[in-house]
Amino acid sequence: GKVRRPTNFICTISDDRGEEATYCGIPISEVVEKDYSIADVIGLLWFKKKFPAWASKFIDMVIKVVADHGPAVSGAHNAKVTARAGKDLMSCLATGILTIGPRFGGAIDGAAKYFKMAKEKGMDPYEFVDYMKKVEKKPIPGIGHRIKSTKNPDKRVELLKNYAKENFPSTELLDYALEVEKVTTAKKENLILNVDGTIGVLLVDMFRNLGYSDAEIDELIEAGAFNAFFVLGRSIGFIGHILDEKRLAMPLYRHPWDDILYDVKRPEEA
Ligand code: ACO
Ligand code: LMR
Repeated sequence: GKVRRPTNFICTISDDRGEEATYCGIPISEVVEKDYSIADVIGLLWFKKKFPAWASKFIDMVIKVVADHGPAVSGAHNAKVTARAGKDLMSCLATGILTIGPRFGGAIDGAAKYFKMAKEKGMDPYEFVDYMKKVEKKPIPGIGHRIKSTKNPDKRVELLKNYAKENFPSTELLDYALEVEKVTTAKKENLILNVDGTIGVLLVDMFRNLGYSDAEIDELIEAGAFNAFFVLGRSIGFIGHILDEKRLAMPLYRHPWDDILYDVKRPEEA
């Protein structure tokens, strides 16, 4: 009989061998003709699913609301400084993306993981806040913001919450996270459920509503699939800032001395 040669690679998302490439079995021309949105394409290539309209619209909203948050945030700053050092677009974009992590933009996976775990373990919000402080000994991912607070609410968070309340079949983890937020904002007004936290818990709710099991959702989080939404969305803004720098023909950036506390001493003799 036929002996199948083992292959070095396996691909389960796209196929370029025919007349035209397919995304999860759907030819690109069909994607275009049937007016698939960017969110629909994400559904096909990241999750191998054709999402229902309520989920696709949510993903579309996530990409839109995280696309940019001005020049001062870590990633945009890095991208701008790199552009002013004369580097190419790809290098500038990469330096921006490299700042995305547990403190900036990349707290989505962590928020999904810890809020989900806490709810599954039946921790009440006080217990959860205490657990993160005393056992995990780290800030709760998805809580806290440098400039947004209960007095200066984050519009993006309001938009996402309102959309989910009106369009998701249920929002159990969001509801839990909002109870946690009551505990943290009672301590300090900037300890709000931030945009990363809101996206994290709502993605868990979205996948639950789409029939994913807890284990399947944990696997997605473990793979970094939730942070990926911020990486993709914010790349739009980073590219904008890079093009802005090039357009403005800005010179090499050097940080001013008076904004650095120099505290350098000669080492003591050993
Ligand atoms: N959970 C519990 N306590 C917190 C948290 C948190 N997530 N964030 C801050 N605190 C507490 C700190 O322990 C500190 O308490 P203390 O005054 O008793 O020592 C106080 O709030 C101030 O902490 P700072 O680190 O100075 O707060 P800052 O305003 O600089 O931090 C930040 C903002 C970095 C967002 C922080 O809240 C944090 O690390 N949050 C978790 C990570 C996260 O969600 N990042 C995404 C932000 S949204 C985005 O980037 C798109
Ligand atoms: C962002 O989306 O980049 C912000 O929430 C972070 C910030 O400090 O503004």
